[in-house]
Amino acid sequence: MIHLHLTTIVLAVILYVIALVFYQKGGEGNAGKMSHMILRADYIFLIFSGLIVYIQNMEGIGASGGHMMYGLKVLFGLAVVALMEMSLIKTQKGSGSANTLKIIAIIVLVITVGLGIYLPLGPLSSMF
Ligand code: HEM
Repeated sequence: MIHLHLTTIVLAVILYVIALVFYQKGGEGNAGKMSHMILRADYIFLIFSGLIVYIQNMEGIGASGGHMMYGLKVLFGLAVVALMEMSLIKTQKGSGSANTLKIIAIIVLVITVGLGIYLPLGPLSSMF
């Protein structure tokens, strides 16, 4: 399940960048909207896979004394999804706060990836 989590994260980042680029270009065409719609479907798999990894490892998490980091990981993961969605909508509308939201989304994304790597499960963690 952690592999599904990683796959959906990579897909989300790629689709987010594509949607941003097309929305920023503006004008006619549905490329931005299309990639945004696929990204929304990907969110479901991303959140689902993260939750399953969390639930499957609840016993280990309880025993390790690292609950707080896992709690933060879930919270930050959900925050990234919310920020990606909000920044895309603001970019599409050409709103002034779009850039601020994009920057916050990227910072929270980097912290979330860092937390995921810091926590013990998954192929990325075992690389470090
Ligand atoms: C865009 C949002 C997210 C990003 C960028 C992200 C990133 C990551 C990364 C890089 C890992 C480590 C994988 C590895 O070590 O191979 C991970 C693990 C994990 N993620 Fe996420 N994640 C996100 C969303 C979520 C959500 C929404 C949840 C829960 C609802 C979640 C729960 C978890 C859990 C429980 C783990 C296992 C932690 C461990 O290594 O012990 N993630 N995530």
